[in-house]
Amino acid sequence: MRNLFIILFLLQFIIINSQVYKVNSPENIIQVEFILEEGKAYYSVQRFGKDVIGKSILGYELENNVSLKDNFVIEAVNESSLDETWEQVWGEKRFIRNNYNELKIDLSQSIDNPKKISIVFRVYDDGVGFRYEFPEQNNLEKFNIIDEITEFKFTGNHTSWWIPAYHWNRYEYLYEETPLSKIDTVHTPVTFETKNGLFISIHEAALTDFSSMTLEPVGDFTLKTNLVPWSDGIKVKTKTPIKSPWRTIQIADNAGGLIESYLILNLNEPNKLEDVSWIKPGKYVGIWWGMHLGIETWGSGEKHGATTENTKRYLDFASKYGFDGVLVEGWNKGWDGDWIANGDIFNFTEPYDDFDIDEVIRYGNEKGVRLIGHHETGGGIINYEKQMDDAYKFYEKYGVRAVKSGYVNHGNGIKRLDENGNVVKGEWHHGQFMVEFYRKALTEAAKHKIMINAHEPIKATGIRRTYPNMLTREGARGQEFNAWGENQGNPPEHTTILPFTRLLGGPMDFTPGIFDLLFEEEKPDNRVNTTLMKQLALYVVLYSPLHMAADLPENYEARLDVFQFIVDVPTDWEDTKVLNAEIGDYITIVRRDRNSEDWFLGSITDEEGRNLKISLNFLDKNRTYKAQIYRDGNNADWKTNPYDYVIEEKEVKFGNEMTLRLAPSGGTAIKFIAQ
Ligand code: NOJ
Repeated sequence: MRNLFIILFLLQFIIINSQVYKVNSPENIIQVEFILEEGKAYYSVQRFGKDVIGKSILGYELENNVSLKDNFVIEAVNESSLDETWEQVWGEKRFIRNNYNELKIDLSQSIDNPKKISIVFRVYDDGVGFRYEFPEQNNLEKFNIIDEITEFKFTGNHTSWWIPAYHWNRYEYLYEETPLSKIDTVHTPVTFETKNGLFISIHEAALTDFSSMTLEPVGDFTLKTNLVPWSDGIKVKTKTPIKSPWRTIQIADNAGGLIESYLILNLNEPNKLEDVSWIKPGKYVGIWWGMHLGIETWGSGEKHGATTENTKRYLDFASKYGFDGVLVEGWNKGWDGDWIANGDIFNFTEPYDDFDIDEVIRYGNEKGVRLIGHHETGGGIINYEKQMDDAYKFYEKYGVRAVKSGYVNHGNGIKRLDENGNVVKGEWHHGQFMVEFYRKALTEAAKHKIMINAHEPIKATGIRRTYPNMLTREGARGQEFNAWGENQGNPPEHTTILPFTRLLGGPMDFTPGIFDLLFEEEKPDNRVNTTLMKQLALYVVLYSPLHMAADLPENYEARLDVFQFIVDVPTDWEDTKVLNAEIGDYITIVRRDRNSEDWFLGSITDEEGRNLKISLNFLDKNRTYKAQIYRDGNNADWKTNPYDYVIEEKEVKFGNEMTLRLAPSGGTAIKFIAQ
């Protein structure tokens, strides 16, 4: 009987013409198999010998019936390895180890006019990245991709966290938690939990000169790549030589492991900017929340927020409490009327009459606070592109170092000029046209020593490693949703999902720190669905090198004892650890300040109150620490009693344990001061 099995096993390689190459991760945790069978290319991924991704197809279809998915023959197979440690210019961890084994398969085709393509796998202990390379070749020069057929065949009906792609509001949706069989066409990162307790995130790294990858269900627990098309239906317009973005599969045996993985950054190119001395993380306040509350306007008139006087008030506040910048929205002409429709008329260098930019800059310099610029484009790319150089020069002249850009436009409503100068409508924020445009806006900004905080951005794929002036971005539902519409607020669980989904791509400008949680006078039908302490904890939980203290100065001055945590919390870290987490339930993160020995903790929960026991073994063994604890009071509850809090101090050290008591939708924030 046993012999029969062996014969059958061997027979399949003879009948099904199949070649298999394997590569293991450095510690043999993860294995990738490349399989060529009947001229088709497949891969599979195992963790400790068990399938995580079953045999899944690879390849492309090009325009004019050119297929890059079959008739393949292997031309060469190469293996290589790397083990290096590199330093982030800024980040959630200073030194990152990049340790992988690589397998590169060069394929050609057994047909007339054969094309060449290579597939490169990098296998890490925390996951896999693979990409396609289209080398320079006679039979393929300029070409259009009409489909990428890469699949991800999962092993079961995993719990999935996802947002839909191709919807009106870009990436700004609440994450759905459903079985894999119920998912729509989704954006990445998309995250899964298996019945055996594995956590998997599918995303892409180094999205450059390509369109974004979304994923569509094709049955059998399998997701297929669905590249976002141009307005004419083509997916990617390109020429050889070109490399696709990396398709990434992060795998961990606990939810926090996904956050502690730096695979996305490792797969990006090293920093290309020579001088980075002007790139500085920091904290800011701004003329912003008043507009969302409806007590100020972007446009001119009585309620205009961006006046010289109001800006000076914010500069005073920022200077008093040590903030680096003041964001001013609505200072430039173009906001009047329905600004969302003003993409063609925004002017990026002409101030409204009540905003004296020279005076504002002079005053800011005196106070040691910089203006943070704003470029709301309304998705009017044609208008913005014409002014971009002048717009950046303008800010550079005034010493502005950071610009928040905005691309509020819906669905596939973006217009561009075609090769003949005609206006074409119908581009998505995540199609190739916009991927290239966002990159241009970033690299042009670098020439003017400007850091970017992009709202309505292209998704984060680790480009910040290559261009560290790509500081932060939105790209998910942020705080502002709490001030909008009826019942549109973010539910308590939202921020316990973001770290495991959107933020796996990179930092987010969530704009935490709302202290007046109910704003009964301004918007009685809206509120922030957290306790006050949860707002503090978000500064640590949601990583961003540029964090806003989003509320109005008067609301901070009314609670200076609580505000002290926002004043103290850094935005640049030596190290990051996740102490505990369940996606959609709770998470506790600790981070060490890059410029001191102090640690900071943020812990948040969904609508369930809970006690979380933690060990303080992340602290230095040889020191004691003064812990300044900002916690929910014993009667706190986001619904009924959100302002109940306690601030207390304790001496603690390595080896101690602590129980964090989180109220429903509550949080704890702690500063551990090294003694
Ligand atoms: C949407 C952004 O997310 C928000 O922060 C900004 O205030 C408005 N657009 C106007 O630019």
